[in-house]
Amino acid sequence: MDDQARVLKFQIFRYNPQKKGDKPRMVTYEITEAPGMTIFIALNEIRETQDPSLQFDFVCRAGICGSCAMVITCGQPDLACRTPTAAPGREIKSLPLPGFNSSEICR
Ligand code: FES
Repeated sequence: MDDQARVLKFQIFRYNPQKKGDKPRMVTYEITEAPGMTIFIALNEIRETQDPSLQFDFVCRAGICGSCAMVITCGQPDLACRTPTAAPGREIKSLPLPGFNSSEICR
């Protein structure tokens, strides 16, 4: 592991409306940033190493289909497969696209 690698803190919106009693919430995960890492790669690593219940859409992983679009760090919607982790900074919030009221989380 690179001694200079940053530890990234992800706050990810979690909610399964099909699971009885589930409530919307933010869950925090930490991972070590790798060179060239994108939000998509980071989410995959979190799913593989920390939380297999984490779900998100993707198809092409090439910035073409748009299925990985999400709100990243309370900015404009962006593509997880095309957004480097270096761009949003050290603390990253991942939210679903509009339709969900993120005003409480993005203050
Ligand atoms: S997975 Fe297709 S645009 Fe990101």
